[in-house]
Amino acid sequence: MCGIVGYIGYKNAKEILLEGLKSLSYRGYDSSGIALKEESSLLIVKSEGKLENLEAKIASFSIIPTLVTDLTSTNFNREVNARGQELLDKSTCGIGHTRWATHGKPNFTNSHPHQDEVGNIAIVHNGIIKNFFDLKAKLEDEGFVFKTETDTEVVAQLIYKFKLQGKDLKSALREALKLVDGSYAIAVIAKDDDKIYLAKNQSPLIIGIGDKENYIASDSSTVVQYTNKILRLKDKQIAVLSANDVIVEDLEGNSVAIQIIHSTQTASIMEKGQYKHFLEKEIHEQPTVISKMIADAFVDETINEFKQLDFSFKDISKITFVACGSAYHAALVGKNIIEHWAKIPVDVAIASEFCSKPALVSKTDLVIGISQSGETADTLAAIKNAKSANAKIMAITNKNDSAIFDLCKPNNYVTPAGIEVSVASTKAFTSQVLAMYLLAMKICQDKKLNFDFQSNIYELRALPIIIGECIERENQYKSQMIKYSNYRDFLFLSRGVNYPIALEGALKLKELSYIHATGYPSGEMKHGPIAILDSTVPVLNIAISGKTEFEQTIYKKTLSNAEEAKARMSPSIVIACDSDENVENLFDEVIRIPDVSQIFSPIVATIPLQFLAYFIAENLGKDVDQPRNLAKSVTVE
Ligand code: M6R
Repeated sequence: MCGIVGYIGYKNAKEILLEGLKSLSYRGYDSSGIALKEESSLLIVKSEGKLENLEAKIASFSIIPTLVTDLTSTNFNREVNARGQELLDKSTCGIGHTRWATHGKPNFTNSHPHQDEVGNIAIVHNGIIKNFFDLKAKLEDEGFVFKTETDTEVVAQLIYKFKLQGKDLKSALREALKLVDGSYAIAVIAKDDDKIYLAKNQSPLIIGIGDKENYIASDSSTVVQYTNKILRLKDKQIAVLSANDVIVEDLEGNSVAIQIIHSTQTASIMEKGQYKHFLEKEIHEQPTVISKMIADAFVDETINEFKQLDFSFKDISKITFVACGSAYHAALVGKNIIEHWAKIPVDVAIASEFCSKPALVSKTDLVIGISQSGETADTLAAIKNAKSANAKIMAITNKNDSAIFDLCKPNNYVTPAGIEVSVASTKAFTSQVLAMYLLAMKICQDKKLNFDFQSNIYELRALPIIIGECIERENQYKSQMIKYSNYRDFLFLSRGVNYPIALEGALKLKELSYIHATGYPSGEMKHGPIAILDSTVPVLNIAISGKTEFEQTIYKKTLSNAEEAKARMSPSIVIACDSDENVENLFDEVIRIPDVSQIFSPIVATIPLQFLAYFIAENLGKDVDQPRNLAKSVTVE
């Protein structure tokens, strides 16, 4: 993970870097830092914790001189500190970083930018240098002295080593990277060089081309407020930036033709509006997102989406979804719907596990990656794995300017959830779940199956209203839910199409409130997890009655499994439809959702679970939008 930014041009670099880091803080917020360059001076300012800490440090730079000693990690920059304020005010060239710790604790020392031994260069890095341990040991044997626990410092020291051998910065970077095994998006500046040097392998890095200025970021949404001319660096490329020029080369030093795309993205609006948190705002946006998706999806009773796919589903014998976290849960809903409606076998793999063995797929297999960010390294690797085994590949993503989107072109479906700022997924998740229904219908259409489009589309069209009604119950939910704030363990149970929603509810509660929660299939509880149950472990069940005999059986079995938990004295909670009279006497707490059929209930049942996690986290005083240890976009495997 981590986010990196850079600027070279004629404007105040510090302002642009801080603005960029703000928009990239979804990639990690353990620490942040910037390096500014002017003439032959470098200034590094960095701080542990959220970006506000760095901003405060910079703002108090001239007012609190005692902080000056804090501003660099080394003594040899003392002369630079004297010029610190001047650099902050005048520098038009710099790089910045927001960190999600991989190697080394999330403290000041390990925060980026890092330096070589003599403080000549400053480097920021997103990725993981897999062989850093061996490289570091070898450099230490050669007498190089390290100050941090990070893998990044190895690259800084390698550059220094090659510079000592008389190489210029570009050649030294190239030689260093030839020794490195791993993923990286890197930006380097140096006291004795006027340019910014970039390198990329498996971690995203874009250049925004301006007029007499150039921008660098991990994500194009960070620079579209300045320029829509975007150059996406490819793996194993090095770029050299000055204010007026961009040169791209491969690792052998051969120049590479530049391909600039014109981004249609607009600058992201990061306003909370009337809401206290982005999470609450994003929960409230769901009826609009779902409504738009459904409106765009159909012309009469025909699916209007997936038109650009370069294959037909009638030629596909099996689908495998690869995804992580919430996207994995959406895929599990997809398995239920697609197998039920379209009668194609569906596998769902956690992306990192799919990469742990050879992909058993062939050319009639379709492997679909689901990813909000379109950058998740595990999902990207899983799709690549499938591609190299000759499977058809496809993506369902919220970002049309992402590595996963690019890899799967033209086989993409872009969810219109819009930017999701809060780290915990809400509207992106429900839009992924809805995409599963649209996909299943598209398969039925391509395979000319005897499927009742009319009545199912009718039910789909009712969803935004039902979800909206659920959201209107926010206050009622709050009064029912916050009393559960002090429990330390939760079990979430359901069966069939709502089992993935039990997983999602548990994940949401864990990541927002840090309360331990496990999602389990209702029927599996008696095979082990039942041992943890007592009066200190609430069990939340999702029990939605059904129209068909099959759905009724699922419902009844869910209730009887809930009874088994209740018999162990666990506080019992249920999410059930308004008209369900069975549940009132069975459960301690009945959380009502408007009536909805079982097959369409996953999206609706998700809403109270999002509120449950939100209210408990807020009640416990947790950082709702940026929970500890997490990042929105997980770009390391
Ligand atoms: O961007 P992606 O959809 O690929 O991200 C996958 C997971 O990292 C993500 O869903 C994560 O689990 C969220 N924190 C869930 O709220």
